[in-house]
Amino acid sequence: MNALTELGRRIDAREARIGVIGMGYVGLPLAVEFAEAGFHVTGFDLDAGKVAVIQGGGSYIGDVPAARVQAARDAGRLEAATDSTALSKCDVINVCVPTPLTKTKDPDVSFIANALEEIRKRIHAGQLVILGSTTYPGTTQELFIPILEATGLKVGEDLAVAFAPERIDPANKQFAVRSVPKVVGGATPLCTELAVKIFRHVFDEVVPVTSTQSAEMVKLLENTFRAINIGLANEVALMCDRLGLDVWEVIDAAATKPYGFMKFQPGPGLGGHCIPVDPTYLSWKMKSLNFPARFIDLATEINTAMPQYVADKVGDLLNEDRIAVNGARVLVLGVAYKSNVGDMRESPALDVMRLLAAKGAEIRYSDPHVPELDLDGRLLKHADLSDDELQSADVVVIVTEHDAVDYEHVVAKAGRIYDTRNATRNVRENREKVRKL
Ligand SMILES: NC(=O)c1ccc[n+]([C@@H]2O[C@H](COP(=O)([O-])OP(=O)(O)OC[C@H]3O[C@@H](n4cnc5c(N)ncnc54)[C@H](O)[C@@H]3O)[C@@H](O)[C@H]2O)c1
Repeated sequence: MNALTELGRRIDAREARIGVIGMGYVGLPLAVEFAEAGFHVTGFDLDAGKVAVIQGGGSYIGDVPAARVQAARDAGRLEAATDSTALSKCDVINVCVPTPLTKTKDPDVSFIANALEEIRKRIHAGQLVILGSTTYPGTTQELFIPILEATGLKVGEDLAVAFAPERIDPANKQFAVRSVPKVVGGATPLCTELAVKIFRHVFDEVVPVTSTQSAEMVKLLENTFRAINIGLANEVALMCDRLGLDVWEVIDAAATKPYGFMKFQPGPGLGGHCIPVDPTYLSWKMKSLNFPARFIDLATEINTAMPQYVADKVGDLLNEDRIAVNGARVLVLGVAYKSNVGDMRESPALDVMRLLAAKGAEIRYSDPHVPELDLDGRLLKHADLSDDELQSADVVVIVTEHDAVDYEHVVAKAGRIYDTRNATRNVRENREKVRKL
């Protein structure tokens, strides 16, 4: 039997062994889903701490309760390792490593290249390799396949390669992993067929597209769509400020239209590993084809200017109270990049704090999800929201909204509030203290 035909049989029979390289926000949930679907899964991560937690039946990802990891461990279906030797035993290898930007804001595919090198050393006929990390169109075809085929194996005949973007949304309780359709594009029709087969075990719906490039572009379209629409919402916020209008009221009222409008909200800037980063992967690729990605550039310009806008507005507010920014006590509420998570990657709160600190403000922060943070080499610790903490701040700046925060209490006790998220929307008393973005 041909090695790929045998792979298809093993997948159908749930005998295929699954490998997941990169056990972070994406890799751990995926590994647990596969284990729960009855597969044997090995998670690979360079971080010995993460591997130890998984081996001990624990979890470091909010959306994956430790009980699920423990159950998968007890069933003998999940293990983790720092050493990638066991990749040779995996029939299906999912690559879920980071794809950040370099200091000069170009795509950094070094994590993919390193993972690929580990795979290359252990590749053999009958394996399916699926890249899940977000990346520019062409990565699988131009970077992955030539290195794997240099071993003498032929993609589509001896081994299979596909791209399947990840759509996970941390802390989103509305959509379970399996309820979000999975897009898959293989290097050949057989590669697509095998990738669809494996994902059908863990996703209710699998959406095949005709190439790896198309699947890579799907992901970039989704996140570019978000970045551009947030950029529009931010520009509308600046317009409303000039017009003396409440942008939140305008957007909420527009969102009552049942068709042809989708609600996006303004805020202090983009954060996280995806929305500020992914469009740059696309614009970088397009630049190499002499195509300027104008919408992306414009949205990036507007979105990256938001922390400065917020810092300026905080300065204006202090000025109204005859307080200089230099020496002012600024309490930042919420520093994670989004609601109800502790993830600080690319968080705009860091820029807001940096800009105000550069003008001499004394920065403190409160975020129940972030016990401490590093602000350019300075360690800051979370402050509990006591009456005293709120009263002693010259201004409280709400940068990220968390369900655990009592905004009624914040507005009652703080003297001045600058609310970049409309987190205080349901607070009726003392509205005069609150200024919104
Ligand atoms: N976090 C999200 O919400 C999200 C959503 C959709 C897509 N993505 C994409 O998924 C990919 C992974 O993102 P993430 O948020 O899970 O990242 P992460 O940083 O949480 O996890 C990545 C893990 O990979 C490990 N790693 C790096 N190089 C490795 C190697 N050579 N071998 C083994 N392990 C290695 C790291 O130690 C880390 O634990 C990125 O491309 C990202 O853009 C993320």
